[in-house]
Amino acid sequence: MIVRHPRRLPLLAMGMVALLAGLWAGLSRLGWDIPLLRPTLPAVHGPLMVSGFLGTLISLERAVALGRRWAYAAPLLSGLGGLGLMAGLHHPAAQLLILGGSLGLVAIFLAIIHRRPAVYTMTMGLGALLWLTGNLLWFAGRPVSHIVFWWAGFLAVTIAGERLELARLQQLSRINRATFLLALGILLAGLTSMNSSFEWGVRIVGAGLTGLALWLGLHDIARRTIRQIGLTRFIAICLLSGYVWLGLSGLLALVFGGVAPGPRYDATLHAFFLGFVFAMIFAHAPIIFPAVLGAPMTFRPLFYAHVVLLQTTLLLRLLGDLTLWPAGRQVGGLLNAAALLLFLANTVVSIAKPAAPAVPVNANGS
Ligand code: HEM
Repeated sequence: MIVRHPRRLPLLAMGMVALLAGLWAGLSRLGWDIPLLRPTLPAVHGPLMVSGFLGTLISLERAVALGRRWAYAAPLLSGLGGLGLMAGLHHPAAQLLILGGSLGLVAIFLAIIHRRPAVYTMTMGLGALLWLTGNLLWFAGRPVSHIVFWWAGFLAVTIAGERLELARLQQLSRINRATFLLALGILLAGLTSMNSSFEWGVRIVGAGLTGLALWLGLHDIARRTIRQIGLTRFIAICLLSGYVWLGLSGLLALVFGGVAPGPRYDATLHAFFLGFVFAMIFAHAPIIFPAVLGAPMTFRPLFYAHVVLLQTTLLLRLLGDLTLWPAGRQVGGLLNAAALLLFLANTVVSIAKPAAPAVPVNANGS
């Protein structure tokens, strides 16, 4: 295996450890009787996944893109925050580290926007601001279930910005730009109104997420590239399936409104975090990992295995949630974790043993 940037590995590793610990914590929260090194672990499943894993990875990717040394402070802080959460430093030390990481990501985007003021950079900057706001509210003592949509907003808006960037969607017509900003505006209106009415705020957030899903589904280049072959087709399938899950999570939030933890909460959140966010990760992994590590990665048709496993088992989990069938939810959730492990295994194998010659792919997957 050739890794041209080994110094980035520890940061990536911190994110991966948070993912694995988060998976373990999630299984415990599903009711699987598994040993826990720390009794506090299940309570930090969400923060580990969103900040320890995704926050660290997104900050690392953006620090690489900016190319300044100070920018690596952002993934370092959120990565350390994730480790702190695992060690049981729930409040306030780990939260402060994560808060610092999100502040760092906002700073990275200010520098990126200064360098390239465009709709897509500003969109991603807005995403970082939503992460920061959610973290501030969490630090102030709000329960995760009340602020989790700020974190979802962070990921939805950041990913929308990345698609604008990667798929060169930024040459938008005025009407397309206006409808994109409308969907973002609805999402923001929902988030800010959750404070006065949690119930209705979440419904409006749901409308915003559904709007964003429709917009991305209609305008993404994936609708055309799905007719190609190999990696390009794989990426398009992941992206389009992700938009379907994003739309579904939006509709669930719209219908259920702000709910307490339980099956409806589980269904809405995981349609989003697993169905949408992981589809995007599956799609971008063959582009992002080589860029971050400087290591080639080869597409293998075997990648479809983790995609299909996650799709089918997530359906089972949601069926369990929505029909109040605990076994379906529990087994579905366990297999969701298996799908993510399979993804990691497939990724490591294809980086460790790149098949020659590697097929060059454009950043937009075409
Ligand atoms: C793949 C296996 C996963 C399992 C087994 C799992 C399991 C769970 C369970 C059982 C809950 C509690 C639901 C409730 O109380 O009603 C939960 C909540 C949550 N999950 Fe997951 N999850 C998984 C993946 C993910 C991923 C990948 C993310 C994010 C990227 C995520 C983010 C969250 C968040 C933010 C919450 C809310 C936490 C809270 O209220 O404290 N989960 N998860």
